[in-house]
Amino acid sequence: MVGYLPAQFLSSNTNHRTDDYGGPAANRIRFVIEALTAMAATVGAGRVGFRICPGNPFNDIYDKDPRETYALLLEAASPLQLAYLHLIHVSNPQVDSLALAQEHWKGPLILNEGITRERAERLLDEGVAHAFSFGRPFIANPDLVSRLERRAQLAEFDPATLYTPGPEGYVDYPVLPG
Ligand SMILES: Cc1cc2nc3c(=O)[nH]c(=O)nc-3n(C[C@H](O)[C@H](O)[C@H](O)COP(=O)(O)O)c2cc1C
Repeated sequence: MVGYLPAQFLSSNTNHRTDDYGGPAANRIRFVIEALTAMAATVGAGRVGFRICPGNPFNDIYDKDPRETYALLLEAASPLQLAYLHLIHVSNPQVDSLALAQEHWKGPLILNEGITRERAERLLDEGVAHAFSFGRPFIANPDLVSRLERRAQLAEFDPATLYTPGPEGYVDYPVLPG
């Protein structure tokens, strides 16, 4: 959700509100907690998950203290007993988002960013996360799940074909035979 509305409320450089939804971190988390609470009340907490990326500067998002903001967010979200937290792992001088989640999130954790089969297996064994997600590997590997199951080599994707017109880079990555 880097740069999307919830992150804009959470982040100090985009949230300029002077009401109960802006200012201190306790106010900036309010919109997200209210949205999650409302979704859980409508469809059931077990059908609601959320994705965060503390410390990720994509789309010019910046928070002066992501550790404080996201610690408060996770502490407030944990009692909602949602289906999962989906975390993009960022480790930079400002924050280690995995360490933050381990300390403040009480619930199922899906981990993302640069996951390989080997890394996922190791982290699963270590109890670091309950599940893992793959983004870029799915672009070049339409049969990613099957390749992971077969321990087959993964194809690399070509970033030059991202956000371009035409089928190239979208539907022309081959599946492994047999
Ligand atoms: C082309 C592209 C578009 C993406 N769009 C979004 C998006 O709209 N929202 C989002 O939260 N993440 C988006 N991501 C980030 C991915 O969901 C994922 O977090 C990222 O690729 C890291 O996972 P990976 O190392 O498995 O690729 C996008 C990534 C790529 C490559």
